[in-house]
Order: sequence, then structure tokens, then C-alpha cells
Amino acid sequence: MSASVVRTRSEEETIELGRRIAERLPRPAVVLLIGELGSGKTTLAKGIIQGLAAADPEEVSSPTYTLIHEFGDGARVYHIDLYRIDSAAEVLALGLDDLLNSNAVLLVEWGERFPQLWPEDRIEIRLRWLEENTREIEIRGAEEARHGTVRDREQRL
Ligand SMILES: Nc1ncnc2c1ncn2[C@@H]1O[C@H](COP(=O)(O)OP(=O)(O)OP(=O)(O)O)[C@@H](O)[C@H]1O
Ligand SMILES: [Mg+2]
Repeated sequence: MSASVVRTRSEEETIELGRRIAERLPRPAVVLLIGELGSGKTTLAKGIIQGLAAADPEEVSSPTYTLIHEFGDGARVYHIDLYRIDSAAEVLALGLDDLLNSNAVLLVEWGERFPQLWPEDRIEIRLRWLEENTREIEIRGAEEARHGTVRDREQRL
């Protein structure tokens, strides 16, 4: 499968990348945000949620303790953080089936923890810390989402 790799050099660039990804996201969509602590998962989610016109970045915080945040009226976006979740059963207890059967966009931090929960055609975004302000962000999955990347910094694998 092909992928796009982009480097961002600030928090704002990562938010901008999120906005571009949002423009091309299919509906429904499951987007797994995969990367270590501080790699920028929540930051990218801010941009995607803003790009979907579901909320402003300052309204987006990490759902580490609340597990799931809901944004938008008609166009629903769910932002989920599995960091503190111990089992797939706990995720299902959040009402995951209903979310997957809606037309929503699901953004899932630490989504790689329970891969069996997610549809085959999910989008996987991997974030790597390179330097203090530099992150490498790899997008795999829906063709459309990859085209949301900044073209002059994009390379095909
Ligand atoms: N290029 C960049 N892209 C994203 N964040 C950056 C970048 N450069 C610096 N940062 C900083 O890195 C931090 C990323 O934090 P963020 O909460 O988005 O990470 P996270 O992957 O969600 O972490 P956690 O696993 O704790 O949920 C922020 O403090 C942000 O300002
Ligand atoms: Mg986070």
C-alpha cells in the first residue's frame, strides 16, 4: 500500500496538515493516530476537527481521562483516546458499534492498541518525534486523505 510522508516543523504546521486531511476525508471514516507521547496526535486531531468545521482548535483537548469527546452538530466527529483503556471490551462499552454505524469521523489516539476493533478500510496516521519541533507524519489508507497532504513536501513510498 502506498503512503504519504510529510514533515512538519511546528505545532501550527501540524494543525494545518490536519485541516488539509479533513478536506478529503471520506464519510464515515476511522482515523487511527499512532505515535508516542508528545508526538502530536492531539495536535493533528485539532486541525482535523477544525477542518471539518466541528470545533476550533482551542476547544479540542486530550480525551485522556474522559476517553471520548464529541464535536459538531450534523457532521459528527468523535475524538477518542485509548491510552488508559485496558481492553477492547471497555471500548465497546463506550458504544463503539453505534459510532461505527453512524456517518461520523472517528479520530482514535493509540488506536493501534486494539486493531481488531477497526474496519479494514481505516486510515492510519503515524507520527514520529524527530526533533523538538519537527515531526514526521505518515498517512496510509484512503487515497483521498493522502491527497490532503502538502504536495511540495510529499513523497510517495
Ligand atoms: N511539528 C509539531 N507537530 C506537533 N506538535 C509539535 C510540533 N512541534 C512541537 N510540538 C509540540 O509537541 C506537543 C505535542 O503534543 P500532543 O498533545 O499533540 O501529543 P500527543 O501525541 O497527543 O501526546 P499524548 O500521547 O500525551 O496524547 C505539543 O506540546 C506541541 O506544541
Ligand atoms: Mg494526545
